[in-house]
Amino acid sequence: MDEKRAQWGSKLGFILAAAGSAVGLGNIWKFPGKAFEGGGGAFLLMYLLIVPLIGMPAMLSELAVGRASQANVVDSFRRLGHKGYTWVGWMGWAVAFLITCYYSHVGGWVLRYVVSYAVEPGKVYGDPLGYFYGMLGYAPASGVTFLPWAALVFAFLFMAVCAFVIIRGVQGGIEKFNKIGMPALFLILVVLLIRAATLPGSGEGLKYMFSIDAGKVTPQTFLIALSQAFYSLSLGMSIMVTYGSYLPKEENIAKNTFLVCTMDTLVAVIAGFIVIPAVFATLGPDGVGKGGGFAFVSLAGVFEHTPGGAFFGFLFYLLLLFAALTSTVSLIEGIVAFLTERMRWKRTPTTVVTCAAMFLIGCLYTCSQAAFPLKGVWFDFANGVTFPPLCDAMEFLTDRIMIPLCALGTCVFVGWSWKPESAVAEAERCGVKFRLVKAYGFLIKFAAPAAIVVILAVSLFTGTTLS
Ligand code: PHE
Repeated sequence: MDEKRAQWGSKLGFILAAAGSAVGLGNIWKFPGKAFEGGGGAFLLMYLLIVPLIGMPAMLSELAVGRASQANVVDSFRRLGHKGYTWVGWMGWAVAFLITCYYSHVGGWVLRYVVSYAVEPGKVYGDPLGYFYGMLGYAPASGVTFLPWAALVFAFLFMAVCAFVIIRGVQGGIEKFNKIGMPALFLILVVLLIRAATLPGSGEGLKYMFSIDAGKVTPQTFLIALSQAFYSLSLGMSIMVTYGSYLPKEENIAKNTFLVCTMDTLVAVIAGFIVIPAVFATLGPDGVGKGGGFAFVSLAGVFEHTPGGAFFGFLFYLLLLFAALTSTVSLIEGIVAFLTERMRWKRTPTTVVTCAAMFLIGCLYTCSQAAFPLKGVWFDFANGVTFPPLCDAMEFLTDRIMIPLCALGTCVFVGWSWKPESAVAEAERCGVKFRLVKAYGFLIKFAAPAAIVVILAVSLFTGTTLS
């Protein structure tokens, strides 16, 4: 199996694909909203400390496990001689599956908005909230609910594009797609940054992002920043294990980790500096995050009041679309790689069947947003057993329980069983000395697991406060 294993065709191909996975809806859609909630500068500062101290060691570990084992996520731990950690691989596989179910639907909504800004921006501006809910099968004015066909059709299209890329394979599909998608994304980002910075009144938003409100430097802000960092760096889902397994031995994984984390953080911070000043400039601080969705609702006011707004709106959603596509592709690759290697299934039918299944499960997610009262089950010690909307229950399960558990398993595995020295040896295979051995060992053994245990504890004991 090893000889036939796919590899990245070029260095740049891997970096762009890994960055493509990391840079997603999390950076452009979630990050600005969280930065606003977390008081701007205070959140930014914590985030910028968490990425190098916890994110980088965790990513380095995942890449090292993947490359050393040359296997999909489920088999990787066993291949390294530690059968007891196979559950971490299963958990990573399962969480990738569940996340793809809804991530692809949100991707579909983004595609819907690309089309909306191209053909009917006036309708979006006229009633941003109504338009958003209309897509999700609910008319706020009359309280009527209906089948959210628009969201479902576009989610189907989105999933079809992803499946196509996966079927083309690692070099032909994923790598080629990212080589076009990632530079396009950076270009659009720069255009929008210039637009936002030159809007009259955007200075207030900039000030907010640079000033540190001491009242917001709280454990809660720290936790929001920490879970956001894991999500944004695509950690705890074993994506980086799979991508690492396609890396040739000569590649320097430490350097790659640094590059990918830096790019991901840069995009998030730039997105924050686009969205927050733009919303301050046009709607004032009260306009931030109002209504049903930060990226879908509040931004309509920004584009409406910007000259050439429909065009910039179109560009913005196109950017979000690229980001969502490259991330979804990475998730599906992790799922399909396991099924084709372990079950020896063929790539094309496997992709079609899993994508169809994930799309269908995702339909329940979209339908439970507003159209139908589908409920899930949730438990925490603060509120006992509750029945939140199915869509929320799915997100709680992945973001608050499964991702942290899988990330914890990986850190404990590398820190205590496989040992940091093995990861360092893997990093040094390229012939370059790894200089941060001591710091890495400490962070992966103690700091990262402790931080993750805190996330899990907060989720279980304080209920829904982690957003
Ligand atoms: N990191 C992606 C984002 O920021 C989300 C993601 C997580 C994608 C895990 C793939 C795997 O949106």
